[in-house]
Amino acid sequence: MRRSLAASLLFLVVLATPPWAADADRGEILARRWCAACHVVATDQQSVTGQAPPFSTIGRTPDLDPSRLALFLLLPHPKMPDMALSRSEAADLAAYILSQGR
Ligand code: HEC
Repeated sequence: MRRSLAASLLFLVVLATPPWAADADRGEILARRWCAACHVVATDQQSVTGQAPPFSTIGRTPDLDPSRLALFLLLPHPKMPDMALSRSEAADLAAYILSQGR
């Protein structure tokens, strides 16, 4: 009984990865690996296809919310393949994108 309660609590904690646990440095590594084929993900990168907005532009969107951005990243958007990111990867990427807009 007690064991399963502890397991459920752990599960909840893992599910509810809070935005403040996001790590923009890890997000940058993910962005360079998964997103740089289409997006300009960092200032040291040359323009790629010109179709996808650079992360610095996305990061400057007024009222951009890290949780909403992370949620968006969990769903494939048009023209973008489904990368099956984990919740924490999505949160890290969101933190990195936001840091690029500053
Ligand atoms: C195959 C090309 C491709 C890859 C890879 C890709 N994207 Fe995109 N992304 C696009 C395009 C194109 C758009 C523009 C929106 C559209 O036309 O659907 C876009 C739009 C976005 C937007 C929304 C911008 C806005 O203002 O609405 C975000 C956020 C985003 N991408 C994040 C990412 C992240 C994070 C990754 C890596 C995990 C990634 N993308 C990988 C092509 C790509």
